[in-house]
Amino acid sequence: PTRPYVIDEMISAKAIAARIEDLCREIQKEYDGTDKLVVVGLLRGSFVFIADLVRELDLPIEVDFLEASSYGDVMESSREVRILKDLRGAIEGRDVLVVEDIVDTGHTLNHVTHLLESRHPARLKSIALLDKPSRREVDFKASWTGFEIPDEFVVGYGIDYAQRNRNLPYIGKVRFLEG
Ligand code: PRP
Ligand code: MN
Ligand code: MG
Repeated sequence: PTRPYVIDEMISAKAIAARIEDLCREIQKEYDGTDKLVVVGLLRGSFVFIADLVRELDLPIEVDFLEASSYGDVMESSREVRILKDLRGAIEGRDVLVVEDIVDTGHTLNHVTHLLESRHPARLKSIALLDKPSRREVDFKASWTGFEIPDEFVVGYGIDYAQRNRNLPYIGKVRFLEG
């Protein structure tokens, strides 16, 4: 059901791994001494990033997941985000790091951040591998960002196009073919 396309590599697996090492050094500094960190992955897009991130983190952590809905066909500027699968654990008084693959309009991470804040964590921060600032519809900035990218259609490393290509080990750019 999709037009024919090819995928051009945009960020290599090696570049991603190097960036994650840098990010983890910063994250470890931030959470130095904590024993109550919960790393929360947003399903499904973050599953590859969170797997690589936590294996690079030398900290005592717990892992939990939350799934927010893809927004429906409501007006672009009032996109509604709903929770399809909530966390298993309570986060009151905990340090929480939310992990996301990409911040596009900002609605998803903005909504999840407000929801989790209402549960009174000790500290709530977020990390996104990719950020497309030119697409923002709500004022949101992740605490840490891997790469800022232009408004390209990206896939791989957890990110899908029509549910495919999440398993590519790199970030690629979708290029539609003529005809
Ligand atoms: C994608 C992506 C982010 C969100 C970013 O998820 O993984 O979660 O959209 O967009 P936003 O900043 O405009 O809210 P999607 O809803 O496609 O679900 P998925 O993670 O299961 O692919
Ligand atoms: Mn997602
Ligand atoms: Mg998606």
